[in-house]
Amino acid sequence: MLDQMNSEEIVSEDTPELRVFFGDLRKMTSIEVADGEVSLIVTSPPYFNAPFDYPDLFPSYEDYLGLVRSFASQSRRVLGKGRICAIVTDDMLVKEETGSRGRRYPLVADTTRIFLDEGFLYRDKITWIKPAGYTRISRRSGVVLQHPYPMYFYPDNIQESILLFQNGEFDYSLLKDAPKKILESSKIDTAQLNKERWNLTVWNITNVLPTPGRVEAGIAAFPEEIPRRFIKLFTMVGETVFDPFAGSGTTLKVARELGRKGIGYEIDVELKKIMRKKLGGENFIMEERDGAKRLRKSLQNRIQHQRSVAKPLVPRLIL
Ligand SMILES: C[S@@+](CC[C@H](N)C(=O)[O-])C[C@H]1O[C@@H](n2cnc3c(N)ncnc32)[C@H](O)[C@@H]1O
Repeated sequence: MLDQMNSEEIVSEDTPELRVFFGDLRKMTSIEVADGEVSLIVTSPPYFNAPFDYPDLFPSYEDYLGLVRSFASQSRRVLGKGRICAIVTDDMLVKEETGSRGRRYPLVADTTRIFLDEGFLYRDKITWIKPAGYTRISRRSGVVLQHPYPMYFYPDNIQESILLFQNGEFDYSLLKDAPKKILESSKIDTAQLNKERWNLTVWNITNVLPTPGRVEAGIAAFPEEIPRRFIKLFTMVGETVFDPFAGSGTTLKVARELGRKGIGYEIDVELKKIMRKKLGGENFIMEERDGAKRLRKSLQNRIQHQRSVAKPLVPRLIL
């Protein structure tokens, strides 16, 4: 942590820059990630039973909320005092077996409530806007164009929420006491901040495009620009960034590029190969832990199956 840090430690070759554990976050122990070891969390939990990523992964919404509760308490334990947890998430429309309309689950509200109950401060909410042509599952807005009558309006979603929680108050004297070299190399480029409008609560960032052969195929990866901004805004060079739902390893990749250490947790061992490809490099630990599963292929098969039998998540015309 910052108060214990000196520049020798920052460039130490004994400490691997990246550690990734394949296991269930609910079973993470302080041997893997120590209390207060982490200076920033940037992550995106699975979006409940998102039809395009995690169909039927969770037996119930209550089971999903159990994972979020455990994520909140693990985050509180591993984060240093006053440090930030940035969560990319959004409400989710899930098709129920019995109906064709789908039901909306309030992930943003429930995640917020759970983090507040855990004792976090609610620092900010940023809305991430994707390009207007982007929709993943079906163009719900087409309904009102086909049937231009009241009650047929269903907008297309091109946004996600980024919730920022803070682990109590930050002690700013830690910055004052930090080595000058570290402070200088961690200085925020305010010209870039203004030019790219990081100063606003709305961020326009292109999502990871579905180009053929991309390394993140089949993973709901976020663009590197998201962890890049948060790592620069909330950590010093040499500090540790944690992604408890590491996926393809986007946060870890950016952390290393910016001279920070990275720790990842990921349940799906089938992502090992993808992560290795994305992260490459030396100074890199990967270990398997309790509760690791093989998920990706079976999820992909289920998505294919659903697509072949699915009705769109939009209502039919009834006049
Ligand atoms: C939205 S993805 C994260 C994608 C990542 N941000 C990226 O850029 O590649 C969520 C990840 O959480 C993982 N996951 C789901 N349940 C988990 C659990 N209990 N413990 C750890 N990881 C879990 C999923 O396998 C998935 O890879």
